Amino acid sequence: MSKPSFAIAIMAAGKGTRLKSKYPKVLHEVGGKALLRHVIEAAAKVVPAENIYSIIGYEADRVRQAMGDTGTKFILQEEQRGTGHAIMCGRNALSKYDHILVLSGDTPLIRPEIIERLRKFHLQNHAAMTLLTAVPPDPFGFGRIVRKSVSGAQSGEVAAIVEQKSLSPDQLNLPEINVGIYGFATKPLYANIDKLSTDNAHKEYYLTDMAELLGRAGEKVIALKAGEMAETLGINSRPELVRLDAQVRAAKALQLMEAGVTIYKPETCTIDADVEIGPDTIIEPFVQLLGKTKIGSDCRIRSGSVIENTEIGDNVLVRQGCIMDSSRVESGALIGPYSHLRPGSDIGENAHVGNFVETKKVKLGKGSKANHLTYLGDAVIGSGVNIGAGTITCNYDGVNKHQTTIEDNVFVGSDSTLVAPVKLGKGAYVAAASCVTEEVPADALAIGRGKQVNKEGWAKTKREKQAAAKKH
Ligand code: UD1
Ligand code: CA
Repeated sequence: MSKPSFAIAIMAAGKGTRLKSKYPKVLHEVGGKALLRHVIEAAAKVVPAENIYSIIGYEADRVRQAMGDTGTKFILQEEQRGTGHAIMCGRNALSKYDHILVLSGDTPLIRPEIIERLRKFHLQNHAAMTLLTAVPPDPFGFGRIVRKSVSGAQSGEVAAIVEQKSLSPDQLNLPEINVGIYGFATKPLYANIDKLSTDNAHKEYYLTDMAELLGRAGEKVIALKAGEMAETLGINSRPELVRLDAQVRAAKALQLMEAGVTIYKPETCTIDADVEIGPDTIIEPFVQLLGKTKIGSDCRIRSGSVIENTEIGDNVLVRQGCIMDSSRVESGALIGPYSHLRPGSDIGENAHVGNFVETKKVKLGKGSKANHLTYLGDAVIGSGVNIGAGTITCNYDGVNKHQTTIEDNVFVGSDSTLVAPVKLGKGAYVAAASCVTEEVPADALAIGRGKQVNKEGWAKTKREKQAAAKKH
């Protein structure tokens, strides 16, 4: 017999009313990553991405677009008429699999291990429906598990799931809850799903009602108690979102510290889930490391720096208050304080970028320096170059961007403006305060400024005239 096929369906169509947001709930982020992406990543460790289906509805296009790169599929639930209805909408796509695992798009802490455990338990027991349950300190608000009893004792099988609002007085104290994660054999599921009704407090099709329906149809419905309740908790409000975010980040910082990274006052740092950092690197308080940022070993990132999607080599010192986005900094470089590396900046080995220097789409070669008050945009700069304080590449003519090329060992004097397109040849000098509009040949000196004129005695004469005028 061939291995039974599995799909994972992730219910993600709801609006998340309590978040009071115009954006869909599953696109809100913890650990710098959308809730749904966390769930998809966990699911993708259990089944191949092409067998993962997100059931989307509210702002479906936005969700589809945001998750487009995951290689997963989507099912549209145009109107959100309940969790049962969500799975009804998946009938065409899902009934071709032998089994489906149903997850919720709002449980970012879900680990692949727990999904795998549910899958195994479901298969081994030949169940039509397997649900994951927990016994939390306060079961209020959750669907409650009613176990079948066999001659007075509780059996492993489930008779029904009763939603909070439908609990009878003697069911109010039932301790075991439905965490909202299920396994189904698709044949009995879709053979019975049309029996669901909206005859309940919310006037919705409850997927949970399948437990009782399948039981009545003679199918096996079982439950697996989840070890950790926290892992399966869904997010419903902003405080819950923020609490979980802090939890995810604390876990991330701990994991990095255990791998040899020093993070001072980690509670003040914001480090996204996918960030990588090498050993012996020191992260000072109030640093943000975002997106796919990757930092080598023996670096020091000083306070107040915000680094996003940027790759940093080894032995790099980032001083206070730097901003970096989608850039690269090679080993031994020195950045800051207060440098702004905009997308496409590539700072070479042992290069220096200093105070109030802004770069964009720039390659700064090995050992080159731009230490003070400079704008470098759309430029290719060789090695050993010195960019004087206040140098500006005039890369934009109001319509188009133009390239500046500065070859190895060029010395650009302070306060120069380089009007692109322009090229400074190897080893050339640019006199301070020059406006360079034409190519400078290798080893030449370019002086592009008015010649200095000294008017002897001019200041003294002016002062005397002013003093005389004041007496009258
Ligand atoms: C559900 C369970 C409840 C369980 C709880 C655990 C039902 C009826 N109840 O309740 O037993 O204890 O989860 O958290 O299922 N969704 C859709 N389409 C819809 C409705 C919901 O995709 O039409 C999605 C939501 O976006 C959400 C998930 O399904 O991600 C769960 O729905 P939600 O309304 O939060 O169910 P609960 O009331 O929490
Ligand atoms: Ca919920």
